[in-house]
Amino acid sequence: MSRKKLIAANWKLNPSSREEAIDLIENIKIGLKNIDVEENINLTFCLPFIYLELIKNSLKDTPFKIGAQNCYFEEKGAFTGEISALMLKNLGIDYVILGHSERRSLFNESSEIINKKISVALKNNLLPILCVGETLKEKEMGITEEIILSQLEESLAYINCNGENVIIAYEPVWAIGTGKTCSSEDANTICKLIRSKLADLYNSSIAEKTLILYGGSVKSSTIKEQMKQTDIDGALVGGASLIADEFVQLVNNC
Ligand code: PGA
Repeated sequence: MSRKKLIAANWKLNPSSREEAIDLIENIKIGLKNIDVEENINLTFCLPFIYLELIKNSLKDTPFKIGAQNCYFEEKGAFTGEISALMLKNLGIDYVILGHSERRSLFNESSEIINKKISVALKNNLLPILCVGETLKEKEMGITEEIILSQLEESLAYINCNGENVIIAYEPVWAIGTGKTCSSEDANTICKLIRSKLADLYNSSIAEKTLILYGGSVKSSTIKEQMKQTDIDGALVGGASLIADEFVQLVNNC
């Protein structure tokens, strides 16, 4: 089964101004000009809400897509400070990262909350990138698989995955922003586990179609090996997506 690769850039809380955001995206665009990205991989930029429209405009002549990094599970009402999936849809946004470990740990998001967010994202035709991953403590306790399986099961409860409407990203928390990359083989083992869980929850054809990304200190120097693995279909890239040359090189190495 051949699945078209996806590279999702996660800018997190960066950069600090519109000028820097435009500068970064323009430099990436220039760098990617000579690579036939569309043919081989899909590319999406997941941005702070405040830059979505700006960067969407600057990417309008490219095949690249735009994503948000979060959304609320209610569509409208008295929820000060929140952004809804409906607003994202109306802005023409394609993807939304949900359940990132930083949201789980720093903003107390449970799998139950993430589940509600996935549901409302799907209702609004957004493509959720559901993140799962174990902490260092959980890894040391030897409960990685248990954690991944329960995060998947709880986050996907009552969600009708069809193989194309939800993307999973395996991001070991201890590898995020630390420079410690999980070995490609170990990452593949967990991605395989995720696929077999999807086959249990849905069926094997849906599991085979679903994109499973790896994330956690992915760089231009690690991506080749990661992309060779049977069950890794792309990457969620944080730090390396903020340096234009490095990100272009990373895409090129795919
Ligand atoms: P990193 O972040 O590439 O900086 O480790 C990845 C992520 O958190 O999505």
